Amino acid sequence: MIDDSSAWKELEQHAKKIQTESISHLCDSDKHRFEHFSCDAPYWKLDYTRQLATTETIDLLCKLAEEAHLSEQRDALFHGKKINNTEKHAVLHTALRSPEHDHPEIQKALEQIEHFCNLIHNHHWQTIIGEPITDVIVLGIGGSRLGPELVINALKHYARHDLRFHFVSNIAPSDFSMKLKNINPSSMLFIIASKGFSTPETMTNALMAKEWLDQMLGTDESINHHFVAVTAEPKKAMAFGISKKNIFPFWDWVGGRFSLWSAIGLPIALSLGFNKFKQLLSGAYEMDQHFLQAPLKKNMPVLLALLSIWNHNFRKIPTHAIIPYSYYLEKLPTFLQQIEMESNGKRVDKHGKPVSYQTSPVVWGGAGTDSQHSFHQWLHQGTSQASVDFIAFRKSLNPTKNQQAMLFANCIAQAEVFARGQIDENSPHKTMLGNRCSNILLCDSLTPQSLGALIALYEHKVFVEGVIWDINSFDQFGVELGKQIAEKLMSELTGEKKSNIGAIEWFKES
Ligand code: F6P
Repeated sequence: MIDDSSAWKELEQHAKKIQTESISHLCDSDKHRFEHFSCDAPYWKLDYTRQLATTETIDLLCKLAEEAHLSEQRDALFHGKKINNTEKHAVLHTALRSPEHDHPEIQKALEQIEHFCNLIHNHHWQTIIGEPITDVIVLGIGGSRLGPELVINALKHYARHDLRFHFVSNIAPSDFSMKLKNINPSSMLFIIASKGFSTPETMTNALMAKEWLDQMLGTDESINHHFVAVTAEPKKAMAFGISKKNIFPFWDWVGGRFSLWSAIGLPIALSLGFNKFKQLLSGAYEMDQHFLQAPLKKNMPVLLALLSIWNHNFRKIPTHAIIPYSYYLEKLPTFLQQIEMESNGKRVDKHGKPVSYQTSPVVWGGAGTDSQHSFHQWLHQGTSQASVDFIAFRKSLNPTKNQQAMLFANCIAQAEVFARGQIDENSPHKTMLGNRCSNILLCDSLTPQSLGALIALYEHKVFVEGVIWDINSFDQFGVELGKQIAEKLMSELTGEKKSNIGAIEWFKES
């Protein structure tokens, strides 16, 4: 295992030795530190000056990547090898955004998306009573919701104004009823977004939507005029009643949490227009090329991953916080939580052997500056630590006199105080020990391209971490048993059979 490698052993020794160092001293003792400890990639600059790391640290981390055969694994990813070894699938979300892909079905899928966008935007889509679509309700959960929702919210500055988007994912009936409360049934479109077309929440909501809309419109035809499906299981969608022409297919080599670049991104294309959806894909493609071509020490996804492993596996920092100083990126932490924790929350390696080291940290976060009034107290003075990725922009999409500068100043101030702290000789209550690490991802402005690049950056970061931990980042068996137990409990909740679970019996009391 990787922790038997010489690089791992050297990093363990290095971590002991560097304990005597401080981030503030490292920053102050090299006036070119920003030049030496930053990395450029398309649209983004990574400032990792506030890491407890020296050039020796980076050298050892890159040696670790080499001992994990990162380059070969990266080539296997891009060349469609079945690196999802437990499900025997390739992992080719990168092909979805590559202009050089040689998959005719990808081109066909993009043409179908573009055609559909034109029908909806030009009011040529035939609804039951002929009203144009004004509201799109996405019925999807996990990666079938989080990616489209992140992008639609993040890029609403660029969005059309004639369509509103709603996301219903939870099986809680209030999610459905509250979201649809004030929407005109005759001008709504349901997108049933589900790779497997069998996820209980989504299918329950889809059935309810079909029955509800038929009732509201006094028809049994709503399925043909107000529903489309996005799935890797078109036969199941047709069995549900969706006609073939209203099914947007994608494939088993697209992981759910990596699928926004596929037809799962249909709501994005509807919101932004097809051309801006393509700009999103092009930004991701540019980051893919950087990941493929940049040398390890100047490779942003690799550095992000290695620094995360340095902080988590060697400095024993248990969690990782994503703090975007951006109104538009408030949903990014939740999106990255799935990407990171559903991909790398694993306990056995690719061969099924229990690993002897930590894998994915807890990933969490929130948008700044609001986060400063919520959990930053813990970050500054708590007994535990988190490594932090700040995200900050030079320009606002809604510029005022100096508020973007104020937002930026707050972000940098937090990173500085985490790093440097402040000892108050008279008050331990006011003392902040500092030496708390952070990265800052810097970008000129939020555009479809820069957002696409950012999402691809984190997709590749998670991939690199998985390579080094030698785990399969692309299955998610851990979520299956809960679904089966829930089904079993339903029979206890709705039947006469007495349950040995007290809460189940409590629920059944009138
Ligand atoms: O959480 C498990 C999971 O399979 C995710 O990986 C996926 O994004 C989500 O459920 C929804 O799956 P589907 O798109 O098949 O409905």
